[in-house]
Amino acid sequence: MTIRLVELTGQDSAFWLEPALDIYVTAMNYPRGTEVHRAPLWREHIARPGWRAVGAVATMAPTEVHRPHAARRRIPRPLAAADNEVLVGIAYGYRGARDQWWNQQLRFGLRQTGRSDADVDEITRDYFELTELHVHPSAQGHGIGQWLLRTLLTGRPESAVLLSTPEIPAEDNRAWSLYRRLGFVDVLRHFTFTGDPRPFAFLGRRLPLPTDIRPARHG
Ligand SMILES: CC(C)(COP(=O)(O)OP(=O)(O)OC[C@H]1O[C@@H](n2cnc3c(N)ncnc32)[C@H](O)[C@@H]1OP(=O)(O)O)[C@@H](O)C(=O)NCCC(=O)NCCS
Repeated sequence: MTIRLVELTGQDSAFWLEPALDIYVTAMNYPRGTEVHRAPLWREHIARPGWRAVGAVATMAPTEVHRPHAARRRIPRPLAAADNEVLVGIAYGYRGARDQWWNQQLRFGLRQTGRSDADVDEITRDYFELTELHVHPSAQGHGIGQWLLRTLLTGRPESAVLLSTPEIPAEDNRAWSLYRRLGFVDVLRHFTFTGDPRPFAFLGRRLPLPTDIRPARHG
C-alpha cells in the first residue's frame, strides 16, 4: 500500500467529507448512519478560525478499489491523483475558543476538580483542539496516525494541543499508545460530556512537538 498525505481544504469538502465520515464511523465502531448526524457538525467546524485538515490517501490495486469497503472511500479527481486512490485516514482540528461547547465542557470539568479560575484560564487560553483523528482499520498499525498527527501539528501558532478521547481500561488501545508516545499528559480524567454517559480523558502537550520522536514508517 502506497500512502501519501494531502491537505484537505474546505473548498474541496464535497470530495472528501463522505469518505472521511465513513472512516470515522468504521474506526470508532459507531452504528452506520452516525455519519448523517455528524456531517453538519464537521461542515460547521470547517468555518472555525484556524481549521486545518490532513488526509492519508492510499493507492489500491484496481481489483480492490471497487470492493464496497474501499469504494465508499474513493476520492474523485481533482483531489485524487489517480482513479484508484482511497482515503484511509483523516485528522483535523482548529483553534480553541471560549465560545465553543468543547472548551466550555473542559472548563466546567476542570473547575469541578477544584482548579482555580486562573489555572483554568491558563490551560484553555491558547491551544489547538485536535478534534478528529482516525485511520481506517485496514490501514492501522503502520504509523499513519502518527504521521497525520505530526503533520497536522507542524507550524501551528498555538502553544499547546488538547484533545479528548474515550477512557479505555489500562489505556490499552492505539489512540492512547499514540498520544502517550507523542508526550501527551493528563489534563482531566474520567469526564462525562453533557449528553454522553461514556467517560472521556482530556490530554494535552506543549507545541511544537519535539523532533526526536521516532518518525512514522511512512513519514
Ligand atoms: C488511533 C489511530 C488514529 C492511530 O493510528 P494508527 O495508524 O493505527 O497508529 P499509529 O500511527 O500510532 O501507528 C502505530 C502502529 O504502527 C506501528 N509502527 C510501525 N512503524 C512505526 C513507526 N516508525 N512509527 C510509529 N509507529 C510505527 C507501531 O508498531 C504501532 O503498531 P501497534 O499499534 O500494533 O503497536 C487509529 O488506530 C484509529 O483510528 N483508531 C480508532 C479511532 C480512534 O480511536 N481515534 C482516536 C479517537 S480520539
